[in-house]
Amino acid sequence: MPQPTNERIEAYFDEHARGYDREMGFFERFVLGHQRHWAVAQAHGEVLEIAVGTGLNLPLYPNDARVLGIDLSEQMLEKARARANAAGIASRVEVRRGDMQALELPDASVDAVVSTYTFCTVPDPFTASREAFRVLRPGGLIIVVEHGPSSRSWVLACQRLLDPLSIRFQADHITRDPLPYLTEAGFHVRTAERAGFAGIVHRAVASKPTQSS
Ligand SMILES: C[S@@+](CC[C@H](N)C(=O)[O-])C[C@H]1O[C@@H](n2cnc3c(N)ncnc32)[C@H](O)[C@@H]1O
Repeated sequence: MPQPTNERIEAYFDEHARGYDREMGFFERFVLGHQRHWAVAQAHGEVLEIAVGTGLNLPLYPNDARVLGIDLSEQMLEKARARANAAGIASRVEVRRGDMQALELPDASVDAVVSTYTFCTVPDPFTASREAFRVLRPGGLIIVVEHGPSSRSWVLACQRLLDPLSIRFQADHITRDPLPYLTEAGFHVRTAERAGFAGIVHRAVASKPTQSS
């Protein structure tokens, strides 16, 4: 199965940016549940949101978070910028084009990384996770909310059937488990839990070890 490239993903999300919030709202209401408050409440200080999309998380961050959001799609970023302006938080939010597999940030420069529904789309999730690890300061947290393999066997069987179509037409891997990407990069997983319909949402908090941990 050919994997979507950055160019293909950018083109897909540029084309679908207009309807993204509506479509995502439907899935969050009926399948994924509302996980965004949980994710952003744990992000403080200098925060990097990888693949920020239309910025649905941006208005929810605590006031002490200064957020840099990056994404491949300019059309998605346009919506994120407009959302930050409308919410009156533009002074502590910056969004710009960037690739989460090759972050243009120095080592150990952020306090937290947030990722919601992104590892399913990125071409190389191992590289993306290693990049998040590199830019986090020791002791910093990565907070992820991803859809992944269901804990119910019949739902997982359906997901496996649908996966090739979803990858091909939506650049979306619906059965990726985010935890192996985190542990392979060197993160210590602090909490990992399931949520949403049939446990298809994988929520985790992991930290970059300090020298003493
Ligand atoms: C399903 S959307 C999730 C958007 C947002 N995180 C949310 O929670 O609504 C996936 C996003 O990942 C972005 N993306 C995919 N690969 C990327 C990459 N390599 N670097 C940055 N953004 C990427 C897409 O452009 C798209 O906006």
